[in-house]
Order: sequence, then C-alpha cells, then structure tokens
Amino acid sequence: MTIDYGATIAEIAQELAEKTNHGKVPSYIPELAKVDRNRFGICLTTIEGDRYMYGDSNVKFSIQSISKVLSLTMAISLQGQESLWKRVGVEPSGNPFNSIVQLEYENGIPRNPFINAGAIVIADILVSQLQHPKQEFLAYVRGLCNNPDINYNRQVAQSEKSVGYMNASLAYMMKDKGNLINEVDEVLDFYYLQCSLEMTCVELVDAFRNFGDTGVPFGHGAYFLTSSQARRVNALMMTCGFYDESGEFAFEVGLPGKSGVGGAIVALLPEKYCVSVWSPPLNKKGNSYMGMMALERLTTKIEGSIF
Ligand code: DON
Repeated sequence: MTIDYGATIAEIAQELAEKTNHGKVPSYIPELAKVDRNRFGICLTTIEGDRYMYGDSNVKFSIQSISKVLSLTMAISLQGQESLWKRVGVEPSGNPFNSIVQLEYENGIPRNPFINAGAIVIADILVSQLQHPKQEFLAYVRGLCNNPDINYNRQVAQSEKSVGYMNASLAYMMKDKGNLINEVDEVLDFYYLQCSLEMTCVELVDAFRNFGDTGVPFGHGAYFLTSSQARRVNALMMTCGFYDESGEFAFEVGLPGKSGVGGAIVALLPEKYCVSVWSPPLNKKGNSYMGMMALERLTTKIEGSIF
C-alpha cells in the first residue's frame, strides 16, 4: 500500500487536539516550567528524503535526554565498544530515569547509557577524550543535521545545575565506586549543557534519520558508527529509550526511539522513516503524554512497526 504520511500525521494531530489538558510540564528544571504546554509539532522524513511536517515543527525546544543518544554515538566512535560497555550496561533499569537505587549495589555501573547515571558516565568519557568537549559535541550535532543554527541554552543548563542534587548524588556515588574519572563538577557542567541543546522536530529527524539507513553511515566528521554499532544503538533505544516505560513504548508503538523531559520523542522505522513529535506535558514516567499517543496512532494507522 502507498502511505500518505502527510495526511496521516495531520489526521493524528486533529484527533489529539482535544487531549491537550492531559499531562504535566516538568517543573524540576525551573526554566522548562515556562514552556507553553499547548505547543505541538510533528515531522516525519522518509528514507528517500520526503518530508512531512505539522504544527510547531520548526520551533526550538530543549532536547534533554534525547541528547544522550548523540553523546553515546560520539563516545562509541571515539573509544570503541569494548571498554565502554565495561563502565555502563545494556539492560533496561525498570526504574525512573534519575533513580539511584541500583547504582550502589551494582558497584557504580549504571544499567544503561540512557538513564541519568549512564549518561553521566558517557559525559565523563567525552570529557576525557575530547580537548574541548562542549564545542566539539556541539559541532558534531550541527554536522549531523548539516545545520549551524543549533545551540545550547545556557539558562536552561544553569537552571538545572542550580537544583541538580540528584545528578550530583549519582555522580558522587560513581566517583566513590571508581566509575568517574574526571571531577564531578566538570562532568556535570558538560552533561547539563549537553541536555540543554535546543532543536526543532525537523532538526531531530535530520540528526536521527541515518540510524535507519544502512546505506548511509551514522555520524559526522571524525565520528562515525559502523552499521553494526548503529544497530546496537537502535537496540538500546528500543529496550531503554523510555526508562521504565520502554516496555510500554515497544508494546504500543514498536519502534526504537528516545524521549526527553522537554516533551519530545524521536523514533524510527529502519529503512523506512524517522519521526519526531513535540508536546511538552509529560506522563507520570517523564515521557511526552501526547507524543506517546501520536506515535501509537502512527504505527497503528500505517500498520508498520519493527515487529
Ligand atoms: O538530568 C536530567 O534530569 C535531565 N537533564 C534529562 C532528563 C530527561 O530528559 C529524562 N527524560 N525523559
């Protein structure tokens, strides 16, 4: 069947229009609480390069945890997988993204690179390996999107740092257990800036679309993944991309993807398309309430998930 993606995403947006009063915009990062909850954007790009957009698809938002996929790809390309997977696991945690409970009895080795503890280890690797981590990570993301108009939001980073007690606790726990090489403050400074990256729905699919294209390697500049490495990152997005809601996302949507507390989700069907949705109110697990629903409807309507 030929799929009319443009009509499908417009139909989904209209169906969801009456659901905007569900979910909560996060307030634990004070700057994020100021975002308009009624924003809604979708962008879908097919592997052939056809692009469909709806609503606020060209408005910038805080990508937050979605940045963890991009920092992971840079870390893999810099130091390979063998030593990296000794410091962070590849199992879903079954716990909230900022949970500390497993970290103590699992010797400071986070379950996966997408929970906060795991992403802080990846940030530590980038701080060790790069001369100018902040500039080089930004240049990498701009290169992935072929777009120089991507920036950190220092106000958001500062806002998160000012109340970042839990992330500091995770980092100190790992430092104590020998799984953090650099100083806690230096690693967290980089981590908060990384999370504060602002992108649009369109830029997110530009950055992520090559995960689903085995003909074009994922990466930019000196940092490329092999296709086997890209498939493994897809597997991690599938199993760990939505924290303790990863099973639900696989069940309802059936795509590898990643969410962030800024309210965005990016997901892809390898060899077919990459899609992003942005709607700031979150469900109880910290994932976009409407984003989850929109993607469930998308893969149901077009009868296409990875399963
Ligand atoms: O460290 C934090 O809590 C945030 N910078 C990122 C968390 C996040 O996006 C979780 N996502 N659903």
